[in-house]
Amino acid sequence: MSEIDPKHFRNVMGQVPTTVTVVTAMVDDKPIAMVIGSFVSVSLDPPLAGFFCTTDSYSWGLLKSADVLGVNVLGADQIDVSNNCMRDLDERFDGLDWSVVDGAPKIAGCTAWLTLTPHQVVEAGDHEFALCNVTHLEAAEPANEPVIFYGGGYRTLAPKA
Ligand SMILES: Cc1cc2nc3c(=O)[nH]c(=O)nc-3n(C[C@H](O)[C@H](O)[C@H](O)COP(=O)(O)O)c2cc1C
Repeated sequence: MSEIDPKHFRNVMGQVPTTVTVVTAMVDDKPIAMVIGSFVSVSLDPPLAGFFCTTDSYSWGLLKSADVLGVNVLGADQIDVSNNCMRDLDERFDGLDWSVVDGAPKIAGCTAWLTLTPHQVVEAGDHEFALCNVTHLEAAEPANEPVIFYGGGYRTLAPKA
């Protein structure tokens, strides 16, 4: 039995800022999207990256069946995109500017875009870690600042001091 109170765990980890990405895939010809804050680069050689998904996520159940995953890193002006992708599964792409690029849905105007192929799914408590091969990656030019998730809400970066 854990002695860590889950609410306390959440509150403290809320002080750890994360990026906001939308992980996407085409599954049975339908676009699937899930908002993911746990996206992380893992290895340079070989190029690996990944993210954690709660095991009870319906979206993850679909994403894990795909051959190609897209990672859309959201910009400071894309909080509405994240909100869109928290709606019911069938409505997440409504009103979004997106297209299939290299096999996965790419959302226009993101800070960075990667495509991944599955490498390994690692059990991690009530989550699974999706360890993936990085097959393509690009950043917006000129650079587009990201949106941050911190303290249970969205933030944007302050100008350099
Ligand atoms: C900013 C933000 C970051 C999130 N990060 C993750 C994450 O890393 N892993 C995860 O499993 N869920 C994460 N979620 C929650 C999922 O996006 C959400 O529970 C899921 O899309 C619900 O859809 P589903 O039940 O259809 O899977 C995050 C939500 C937000 C708003």
